[in-house]
Amino acid sequence: MKADVFRRRVRGAACLLPAAALLAGCEPGAEGGYARIAYRDDPEVPRAAHPDPPAVTPGTTVGAAAARIVATNLPQGVTQAMVDEGQDQFGTVCSACHGQGGTGSQAGPALNDGQWINITGQYPEIVAIINNGVADPKQFPGIMPPKGGGSFDDQQVAAIAAYVYALSHQGGA
Ligand code: HEC
Repeated sequence: MKADVFRRRVRGAACLLPAAALLAGCEPGAEGGYARIAYRDDPEVPRAAHPDPPAVTPGTTVGAAAARIVATNLPQGVTQAMVDEGQDQFGTVCSACHGQGGTGSQAGPALNDGQWINITGQYPEIVAIINNGVADPKQFPGIMPPKGGGSFDDQQVAAIAAYVYALSHQGGA
């Protein structure tokens, strides 16, 4: 068998498999091949009707940790690093009742508005209420279990409290 005959046969066989057909460069419509569908290249369809998907900034995640809040006027011993860590932890448990970003839900009050039901919003109070939960809610129908039902150590609770404090003191007040 001559070399070019052999090559044609191999190529013919490859055209039966779509992936191999691509590699072998089969004509569109050739046996086993397929026509290329690319609406982006179609002059009938305006390019603007198919904009590129939004770019995702590397290092961000969708949801809880998307936008970092920058705290002002943190109490002594509370750092921005704690606020950042607390933001990640908050998204694992607390946001179920208090909403992403502490915006509130039917199961728990907003924590980002400087309005308080059980406390005045001081950092030590926030630490305490996270540890103890709220067994007897004043306005909401359900309780808050200790640590929101999560298992956080003291350092994590301190970080979550830093985040809650920063959320409610974004104006620097
Ligand atoms: C199961 C729902 C639920 C979860 C989970 C939860 N909470 Fe709560 N939280 C509540 C309720 C209910 C209250 C009390 C509202 C009331 O008194 O009517 C509350 C109160 C609070 C308060 C005091 C708010 C105020 O105005 O008095 C803080 C601060 C707080 N939660 C932080 C957290 C943090 C941080 C987490 C995560 C570790 C968390 N909560 C998890 C339901 C929840």
